[in-house]
Amino acid sequence: MNLFDVYPLNNIEIVKAAGSTVWDATGQEYLDLYGGHAVISIGHTHPHYVKRLTDQLNKVGFYSNSVKIPLQVALAKKLGEVSGKIENQLFLCNSGAEANENALKLASFYNNRKKVIAFKGAFHGRTSLAVSATDNPKIIAPVNETDNIIFLPFNHVASLEAAFASSGEEIAAVIIEGIQGVGGIQEASVEFLRSIRALCDKYNTVFIADSVQCGYGRTGLFYSHDYAGIEADIYTMAKGMGNGFPIGGISISLKLKPWHGMLGTTFGGNHLACAAALAVLEVMEQDNLMANAATVGSYLISELKQFKEVKEVRGRGLMIGIDLPSELSNVKKNLLFKHHIFTGEAKPNVIRLLPALNLKKEQADQFLEKFALTLKD
Ligand SMILES: Cc1ncc(COP(=O)(O)O)c(C=O)c1O
Repeated sequence: MNLFDVYPLNNIEIVKAAGSTVWDATGQEYLDLYGGHAVISIGHTHPHYVKRLTDQLNKVGFYSNSVKIPLQVALAKKLGEVSGKIENQLFLCNSGAEANENALKLASFYNNRKKVIAFKGAFHGRTSLAVSATDNPKIIAPVNETDNIIFLPFNHVASLEAAFASSGEEIAAVIIEGIQGVGGIQEASVEFLRSIRALCDKYNTVFIADSVQCGYGRTGLFYSHDYAGIEADIYTMAKGMGNGFPIGGISISLKLKPWHGMLGTTFGGNHLACAAALAVLEVMEQDNLMANAATVGSYLISELKQFKEVKEVRGRGLMIGIDLPSELSNVKKNLLFKHHIFTGEAKPNVIRLLPALNLKKEQADQFLEKFALTLKD
C-alpha cells in the first residue's frame, strides 16, 4: 500500500529531538522555530513530559469515557488555574478541527440557531463545519458547502454590526482566531474583539475564540484574545496542549449546560493524552514559559523590525509573521536547507515563527544571524 499523497514534503527525516533542536537521519542538526506547526510548546522530549507519559503508559494508557478518569478532573483543574478560567468546564477531544466542530455544535445546541459568522482569512480545520467556516474554497468539498456560514471582513466593525442588525437573531456563533495563523499572522484588533463580545451579549450569540494556534501561552498570555480584556464563551485548543500528543479541548463558560450524550468521542481525554497535557501545564507553570514567550518574542519582533528588506513584522510573543517582498521568496527554503533552521510559512510570502515557548535568547540570536545572511543569498 502507498501513502495517500496529500502532503508536499521536505526531503528530511527527523530522528532525534531535544528542546528546540532536531537532528535528521544524516546527523545534521537543525534549530526548530516551527515546532511541527506550533505543536511543540515545552520543547521536544522534555524530561518531565517523557517521564510523565512513560509512567502513565506503565499504569494504564487508555480507557474510554465509560469510566471515571481522575486525570481529566486534574487536567480541568490545572487548566482552569493556568488559563485563569477557573469556573469554566472542559470537554476533551483529539484535534483542533474537532475542538471547533464541537464548539460550533454546542453553540447551536445552546441557542437553537444555525448561522455562524466567520472571517476572511480564517482557518478553523478540515472537518465538516470547521472547514465550512474556513476561508479556503479549495478545501471545502461539495458536501461541506452550506449557506449557514457568513464570511465577513476581518477587523471590520461596521460589517459586523450590519450583519447582526440584519440577522442577529439567527446567529448561533461568531468564531475568530485572536491572531490568524494560516491567514498570515493577522491580529484581531481590541476594538473588533470587544465589538464581537458586545454584539454576542446583545443577541445571545456564542463567542468562540479559536485558540488552537494562537492560544496556550504562545503570545505571552494564555489566550491571545485576553489582550482585549474580554471573555469568550468557548475557547478551543489543541496544538500546544499535548506537546505532540494528540489532544484538543474546549473551555466552556458556565452558561452552556451539558446533558448526557450531547457531545462525545472515543479517544478524547484518554489517560495518556491527559498525562501529556498535565505535563505541559506543569512545565509551563514551573518554568514560567508564558513570560519567556513574551520576553523572547518581543526581542525577536523588535530585532526583526530593524531589517529594511522586511515589509512588516506582525504578531505577539512567539507567534511571529515576517512579511517579505515577493523577490525574497527563497528565504524560507534557504533557512532550512542552507542554514538548517525550520520555520513555517503563510501565503503570499510570510515566514511564520512558532517555536517552543522556552526558546532561548541565544537561539533567537542564532536565527537573527542566519536570517540576515539569507536576505543576501
Ligand atoms: C487556528 C486553527 N484552528 C484549527 C486548526 C485545526 O487543527 P487540527 O489540524 O488539529 O485539526 C488549525 C490548524 O492549523 C488552526 O491553525
